[in-house]
Amino acid sequence: MSAQTKTVGEMLEYGQKLFEQSDIYFGHGTDNAWDEAVYLLSSVLNLPPDADRSLLDNSVSADDQEKITALYQRRIDERVPAPYITKQAWFCTLPFYVDERVIVPRSPIAELIYNQFQPWCTESPKKILDLCTGSGCIGIACAYAFERAQVVLCDISPEALEVTAINIQQHDLDSRVTAIESDLFSSFESSANNSFDLIVSNPPYVDADDLAQMPDEYSHEPDLALASGDDGLDFTRRLLREAANYLTEQGVLIVEVGNSSVALEKAFPQVPFTWLEFSEGDGGVFVLTRTQLRQYADCFG
Ligand SMILES: C[S@@+](CC[C@H](N)C(=O)[O-])C[C@H]1O[C@@H](n2cnc3c(N)ncnc32)[C@H](O)[C@@H]1O
Repeated sequence: MSAQTKTVGEMLEYGQKLFEQSDIYFGHGTDNAWDEAVYLLSSVLNLPPDADRSLLDNSVSADDQEKITALYQRRIDERVPAPYITKQAWFCTLPFYVDERVIVPRSPIAELIYNQFQPWCTESPKKILDLCTGSGCIGIACAYAFERAQVVLCDISPEALEVTAINIQQHDLDSRVTAIESDLFSSFESSANNSFDLIVSNPPYVDADDLAQMPDEYSHEPDLALASGDDGLDFTRRLLREAANYLTEQGVLIVEVGNSSVALEKAFPQVPFTWLEFSEGDGGVFVLTRTQLRQYADCFG
């Protein structure tokens, strides 16, 4: 790029053009070339996500121009999702440390957290489990939404849990939020002490066909976080079998399965899954109460 490009706005236009001319895929925090450029430039210039447009006329030093250009180029050459480059992602307007040990947070469950899971949680949940926590984004955002709740974050991956720990510490939530390594519920004893008012999960749910066709950006994310057997339901089937044992009487289970919702409906035609509505798009998130899980236990095997 030419040496005279100096303002924030010009650097963003430059990034936008580069991205539009490339074959990068958007889906890890942004959905267009301009926002992608803003994301990367903001990390170099230490700008907040809601930075004022008046900053567009600020000049960018030659040194920073070089750093920003290098990030743009890395995004294109390596097809790395931008949050892995900046080591930061946003979820429920909260910042989270991320790297390749966890997926980049993007669950539509954020919208449910904003709404405090209404009308599904009639009372504030006292104990919440974020199953398959990755960076911890869902459980940590729940801890902000329900200030008196105890929150347990669980993941099978010790590497992911290293990232979870960083985020618990960065949000200063050690007193209310704990992390556990567990394959589903295997590290939990089924006891009153281990009953949750709310279990929320964004588990792996990508089916084999989709996995084979995913854009290169997804290859930077852990396989363990995405793949879940031929029809994307290996994990969810186990969860449906076991979840009732870890819910309180009035407890609810909220699970994201994305477009594996079609396979789920087909696998369990008798079960009245409630599919939640989102302001943007179809989130593929269902709710079942403990009572329903018990009622349809025979279907889950
Ligand atoms: C789709 S990611 C979700 C991460 C995070 N909740 C989010 O929304 O960004 C799924 C996570 O489930 C974890 N996982 C996969 N299989 C698991 C299992 N059997 N038990 C517990 N966690 C599992 C993976 O390590 C990964 O971190």
